[in-house]
Amino acid sequence: MTIESRVVARRPATANEPEILVLPDPEAVAQEAAARIAAALGTAAAERGRADLATTGGSTPAGIYRALAALPPEAAPPWPIIHIWWGDDRFVPRHDQLSNVRPLDEVLLPAVPLPPENVHPVPTDLALEGGHDAAWAATRYATEVWRQLPRRAGWPVFDVVLVGVGPDGHILSVFPGAPVEPVAVAYAVPAPSHVEPHVPRVTLNPAILDVTSALVVVCQGAAKAAILGEIFGGLRDERRWPAQRARRRGAVWILDEAAAANLPGLG
Ligand code: 6PG
Repeated sequence: MTIESRVVARRPATANEPEILVLPDPEAVAQEAAARIAAALGTAAAERGRADLATTGGSTPAGIYRALAALPPEAAPPWPIIHIWWGDDRFVPRHDQLSNVRPLDEVLLPAVPLPPENVHPVPTDLALEGGHDAAWAATRYATEVWRQLPRRAGWPVFDVVLVGVGPDGHILSVFPGAPVEPVAVAYAVPAPSHVEPHVPRVTLNPAILDVTSALVVVCQGAAKAAILGEIFGGLRDERRWPAQRARRRGAVWILDEAAAANLPGLG
């Protein structure tokens, strides 16, 4: 069955709103996200000989990685020239259960011809081995990002950025009420006390969300319905709902029916 025939609701993009696509279940969401990510990576790779994806953490990516691995060869990204980065990570070793890299190591890397040297995690292992803190890891990560990526409007451009949305409306590791935005492209964030896990993070600057040409937001499950209703409500306040940064034309929000329950104006 095609995804098209399974679409529950959709809202096309407008001048300042993203495209919203509602699908029946997390599996369909993962398939659609994978198809869009693969297509955008393929286009970018054809244009410039490589393509860079900033992926996400939490529970969102594992299903997408499975769907990416299951794509037929003609729809799969050209893995040998794909590079993977993280929009944010927890300050834990790469093999830790909490690591945002671990799902990629477990699900995607063994299944596709992605060269391990094309995987660019926040260097938490190096930092921890050397007795350094999250700020050190962030600085090193930022240096690598600047070294490898093109720029647009003063910020590094990832060809595709995949993000989830936290239960409090956070995006990347930019939490509600976060202090005025730092200028660094990557920076350390103290362990949040209001959402799990309570460990320090390293995040990319949310400005990278503005300059990517393919911003894919994925959200599923009834637990996200209330916050999505607020994010897509009448009030715009990015300090209160950092995920509103991705509520813009050019982004696509792929949701399951449960998560989309409180969204206004879907038909
Ligand atoms: C993190 C994540 C975070 C995540 C959202 C959504 O390290 O916590 O990167 O920003 O994407 O919290 O998480 P779920 O996919 O688990 O809903």
